[in-house]
Amino acid sequence: MDRAPIHRNPNPPVNEYTAANRDAWDAIADLRQDIWPSAGFFASGGSLLREHELEAAGDVRGLRLCHLQCGSGEETLSWANAGARVTGVDISPRQIELAARKARDAGISAEFLAADVSARPVELVPESFDIVYTGGGALGWLPDLDSWAAVVHQLLKPSGRLILNEEHPQLGNLEVRDGSIAIVGDYFDRQPHRTTGWRHFAGAEHAPEPRWEFHRTLGDIVTSVARAGLRIESLQEFPSTASWRFGDDLPTIRRLLGSFLLVARKPDA
Ligand SMILES: C[S@@+](CC[C@H](N)C(=O)[O-])C[C@H]1O[C@@H](n2cnc3c(N)ncnc32)[C@H](O)[C@@H]1O
Repeated sequence: MDRAPIHRNPNPPVNEYTAANRDAWDAIADLRQDIWPSAGFFASGGSLLREHELEAAGDVRGLRLCHLQCGSGEETLSWANAGARVTGVDISPRQIELAARKARDAGISAEFLAADVSARPVELVPESFDIVYTGGGALGWLPDLDSWAAVVHQLLKPSGRLILNEEHPQLGNLEVRDGSIAIVGDYFDRQPHRTTGWRHFAGAEHAPEPRWEFHRTLGDIVTSVARAGLRIESLQEFPSTASWRFGDDLPTIRRLLGSFLLVARKPDA
């Protein structure tokens, strides 16, 4: 009797936090497509990258760029439009499908891989990327930042750079109430937090899939990157542009820090 071929995932199983996050992100993937531009935007050269990201990266034409936690790939395609040879990685298989479809529909060459970024996916060759890019609400999903930073180090070629454009971790501790900024939660609380429902996505407010988030201070993030062996080149702070999160309160929130851009380089061997 003929047997069907068995395709095994060559990567180690993910931990329980990451498995829950994968399922929660898969469940919201199609609905979340509505917030992103369509393939046509990218086909005509469109980009979602911020000026300061492009400035930090410089000329990326011909460079190999790995986008960790790429979601449905819109920033990955933006880097491709800037001239980079791109690979996007995300734990959510549905988002990766949507990303691959968007690239195909836009006629853009890009590779996408469904995998956990807490350990180097075997499909990604060590020291093969000039740039590792990530951020936009990425790090708070990772149970172990030191493991993530080690993966970044492994993927980069000597002299390669990490470009991390991330929400400032303090942003989660701020809310605007009656025109004033209120402090919520505790910036130094590093316990895993379980949530359900997506407050900021119409139609998904009551999504039942549990997910886990991990708060880190800015110091925790910079320390993990440095401890992995990368040399910090710059750390800049910017006001928030997260209108999806703060709506009409954005002008008030913008008086405090909203995001940061960290550039770190792997030393030459
Ligand atoms: C807020 S998104 C950030 C990506 C992009 N900036 C965006 O806004 O779509 C967070 C992403 O992290 C992914 N993610 C969470 N944990 C992960 C892990 N361990 N490995 C790879 N991707 C992960 C989720 O699937 C989700 O697409």
